[in-house]
Amino acid sequence: MMAKLTLSILAVCSALLTPGTTATNADNGQWILFNEISRVSNHSLMWGPYRPNLYFGVKPRIPKSMIAGLMWGKVDDFASVSQTVRHACEQSDDMAGYGWDEYDVRTGGHQVIRDPGNSIDIHTEFIKVEGGENGGHWGVRVKGIPRTGAPVDLKTMVVFYVGLEGLGSLSLQNEPDERGLVGDVTLEGSIPQLGEFKIDITVGPSTNKPPQIGHEKYWNEKPLDRTSYRSLKVPAEDVWKAKDILFMGLRDNFLKVKEKYGESNIPPPWQAFTIPNTFGLGNFHMVQKVFEGGFEFDILYSSASALTPMTTDILTEKIRTASKSFADRFENTFPREPPFNAPRYRQFAHNFFSNLLGGIGHFHGTSIVDRTYAPEYEEEDEGFWEEAKAAQARPDAAQPEGPTELFTSIPSRPFFPRGFLWDEGFHLLPVSDWDMDLTLQIVKSWISLVDEDGWLPREQILGDETRSKVPQEFQTQYPHYANPPTLFFVLTKFIDQLEEFQSKKGDSMNEHLDREPPSNLFSSDELPTIHLKNLEAALEYLRSIYPNLRRNYFWYRQSQSGEIRGWDRNAYSKKEGYRWRGRTPEHCLTSGLDDYPRARPPHTGELHVDLLSWIGMMTSCIKRVAAAIGEHDDVAEFEQHEYAIKKNIDDLHWSEEHQTYCDATIDDYEESAHVCHKGYISIFPFLLGLMEKDSEKLGKVLDLIADPEELWSDYGLRSLSKKDEYYGTGENYWKGPIWININYLAIQRLMEYGSKEGPYQKQAAELYKKLRVNVVENVYKNWEDTGYAWEQYDAETGKGQRTAHFLGWTSLVVKIMNMPETMSVVAAPLRDEL
Ligand SMILES: *[C@@H]1O[C@H](CO)[C@@H](O)[C@H](O)[C@H]1NC(C)=O
Repeated sequence: MMAKLTLSILAVCSALLTPGTTATNADNGQWILFNEISRVSNHSLMWGPYRPNLYFGVKPRIPKSMIAGLMWGKVDDFASVSQTVRHACEQSDDMAGYGWDEYDVRTGGHQVIRDPGNSIDIHTEFIKVEGGENGGHWGVRVKGIPRTGAPVDLKTMVVFYVGLEGLGSLSLQNEPDERGLVGDVTLEGSIPQLGEFKIDITVGPSTNKPPQIGHEKYWNEKPLDRTSYRSLKVPAEDVWKAKDILFMGLRDNFLKVKEKYGESNIPPPWQAFTIPNTFGLGNFHMVQKVFEGGFEFDILYSSASALTPMTTDILTEKIRTASKSFADRFENTFPREPPFNAPRYRQFAHNFFSNLLGGIGHFHGTSIVDRTYAPEYEEEDEGFWEEAKAAQARPDAAQPEGPTELFTSIPSRPFFPRGFLWDEGFHLLPVSDWDMDLTLQIVKSWISLVDEDGWLPREQILGDETRSKVPQEFQTQYPHYANPPTLFFVLTKFIDQLEEFQSKKGDSMNEHLDREPPSNLFSSDELPTIHLKNLEAALEYLRSIYPNLRRNYFWYRQSQSGEIRGWDRNAYSKKEGYRWRGRTPEHCLTSGLDDYPRARPPHTGELHVDLLSWIGMMTSCIKRVAAAIGEHDDVAEFEQHEYAIKKNIDDLHWSEEHQTYCDATIDDYEESAHVCHKGYISIFPFLLGLMEKDSEKLGKVLDLIADPEELWSDYGLRSLSKKDEYYGTGENYWKGPIWININYLAIQRLMEYGSKEGPYQKQAAELYKKLRVNVVENVYKNWEDTGYAWEQYDAETGKGQRTAHFLGWTSLVVKIMNMPETMSVVAAPLRDEL
């Protein structure tokens, strides 16, 4: 009832705002407001560590502009330098954990990289400062702190570089000196969209010490209490290969000194492995410092559009205040409910969430797409997967498309530093609690990639740098492949919150509408919630994405349609049945649950219960978007779809024999038959909130979840039932191991069903309480033991496995800790069922 009421408030407000019912100058005022929000938001999000594939890399959200990054490594022997220099996050670096302990996209934060291989911990304290017109200033304090047991004379080289990938200029302001630069190093430049700027790389405090003088003669030539500097011209498409560029310089210098002094009198590695000082014009600029023991220095970027430049003092002050405000805001946004209110979960929570935000990147470049294969989304013939394989063996059919750009978070910095559709909706659930404006920008960035047919490629591998991390056979995208449409989760949440904000605001609405459009409509502190507070802005946003969203919705329905009538299936609707394209006998990668057992062999008559559920979820969401912006005909159509989908979930996918939801296929007798493997797939209608609270089937789902011989473990729900014949077999990726995204959905649903009066309320509430604790405790314990969040957790032991530093959806534990400890037995209904 509550939901109906608020929905009507939204509808009334939205009617008030329809152009034509408001005065022209108010329309104009709204446009100024939308533009102003967009402008201020763009500036606020301009800079960031938006190269999350690196341990530390900075760029603005402007394609083909400037990229910067940090490298370091110890230089105490000749042999190992090629292994010790760090740049891109690599599992093989064997870090003892790394990432952001605190981070906010608008103010910055603090990262620690624990590097036992180099006996040092590197800290990067990154800060953004508002000011001027072009995204303001930023600064980063780089600190090296030797780890326990490090040699007292530990020698570390640190390299910072800036490269231009497009138009613009950058040049050194210091007096060139072949022996190296004295004092702070200053670069000045200018880039379209950023204007003029300067970058200072400071000397740092007097506690910094150069290494011992090893080879006196060479020291006179190139004293290391100075900064080495090298500028050069690099083709735009190679600027990202900074480590190769560095090594070319190190090698040149090494060969030069070897020739000069002879093999027997060669200077020590920390002198020999320095970059040659060169001062030509160039688009790539690199500075190198060599220290003994701990060190600290600042990199300060100042936009010339601000009155005063960025300084070390400002950086120091902002590091202090940012840390305090992060902690306060975090406690307000994600208060931890018992038993996780104990202090030991605090750093864990900060760390997981900060790494999710700190993993946000800006990507740009071409993608590889094969549009020659199955142009009409076929896969209709027997053995169609063999054809698919043949098509994949023809790399010449794949063509680069684009370039396009994407602002997104990522599943994992070392292993998956790129956008994944299936993951992104989960990432944005915690992100949206923190910053809805940021979330909406990311959603919009994704939705703008929906093509003319409505297709949104599931994996965004944009540009050569991103492609360098992906084996070639996985680079090509196919325009008939789908993926779970998780971004719709986020839009549903946006509308929920919008209704909540607007119903609280009530009558003040009209007053708001009458306001003149002054320039100081809001301060940038209000950005995170600005679209919730300004209904006009929210609706404008929804209108702007609606055409692509709608096309994408109909693309799923059409391209992944399943056959109901052709196989004489008995179902309420002859339309609402779907089949993932892109199957092979062992895999259904497009479903996201890669190796989860499905029909064997694949069949064109298959129907997938998870996909029907996803489309059900999409339908409920897009219906609400359409209602909010007054697309009434669409609302009526979506309501019919929604009703039919719920009917068909039971008609097509409930197995009386197995008492669970199952995929369907065509058996040897050419009859429709269920394919039942209990696990995540068989509870999808539950996971996506498509079951009625009084349904007996809900009771069966809860029984399945609760059974320790099936899905229940002390560490979370298993992906496949322990009783299934495929449990723990083969690749064992989605055949048992515990995944946090699905456990989050289960916990969320148990909370909802546990708070609604009904025959299964008590059971749901009890399971909720236990599952919530099991999941968080296990992820926490693994983090304590290893310093990492993991991609998945073993179904028998709970041990984290596969990709380490998986701070995509595993960070949903932050939201889970924020949920109530228990459900009260008689609770007010939260909201009508979807
Ligand atoms: C903000 O940035 C987006 C994406 O780059 C761009 O499309 C939009 O026009 C910008 N808005 C303003 C007001 O500059």
